Amino acid sequence: MGRKPEGEKVMHLGLDTGMTKSARYALLPGDPYRSETLARKLAEGADAEELAWKREYCSWLAEVEGVPVLVCSTGIGGPSASIAIDELAQLGVTSFIRVGTTGAIQLHIPVGDVIITSGSVRLDGASTHYAPIEFPAVAHYEVMAALVAGAKQVLPGRFHVGVTVSCDTFYPGQERKDSFSGYVPRRFQNITEEWKRLHCLNYEMESATVLTLCAALGLRAGSVAGVVVNREQGEEFTALEEGEDNSVKLAVAGLRELVRRDRAGSRDG
Ligand code: URA
Repeated sequence: MGRKPEGEKVMHLGLDTGMTKSARYALLPGDPYRSETLARKLAEGADAEELAWKREYCSWLAEVEGVPVLVCSTGIGGPSASIAIDELAQLGVTSFIRVGTTGAIQLHIPVGDVIITSGSVRLDGASTHYAPIEFPAVAHYEVMAALVAGAKQVLPGRFHVGVTVSCDTFYPGQERKDSFSGYVPRRFQNITEEWKRLHCLNYEMESATVLTLCAALGLRAGSVAGVVVNREQGEEFTALEEGEDNSVKLAVAGLRELVRRDRAGSRDG
């Protein structure tokens, strides 16, 4: 329970606090192959080090503004993300930024833009194991403010802030018909129209878990996702590279801004 004793590894990530230099900040891509990209971008040409790669959890360490920052992939979906967050918290991480990709559901959001999630619709299962469904999946205001400030610097006019629909499945839960059966269960039929009318911006699969767990555990979290498809325009992933690149750019700028703000306010993460 609580913090891991020094030198003791957490079960799934294969990390201990010596390896992580007791980092208090973490970036969380879904894709393990994106950990290195993020770490190298954070390091800005200085050294970045691979720490471990077990299953979907690929961890790198970089230094930003003189403080250690972890990058740890979560894999896809809430269950694996919940393990990453819990074990990183056991290692002393207190601030988390998820960096992912997403499908926009509002026509006005172009592919390649980035969505900063202010709160998520909890269509996952993992978050209900940490807090009842009435508990909100909300970003921490300090992380959100830093992400927006970072976005204004590196992606002016190309980011959107709002509510994300975060769900356990890519196909039926996001009302996709190009699945094996093509069937969308009644519960999800026409649900996208309802989310649109409720001014939700996008679908993805991890933010509900990340934001709920962190809020419930007294940790800080935010979430950004690059738009790789606009579901109002079609089902083709037309901007995979641009969406990924822009989400990385924004997350790195936001993290840098968060570290600076914490330092100015004498907070160390
Ligand atoms: N990730 C999702 O969960 N949905 C999309 O449409 C794109 C990326």
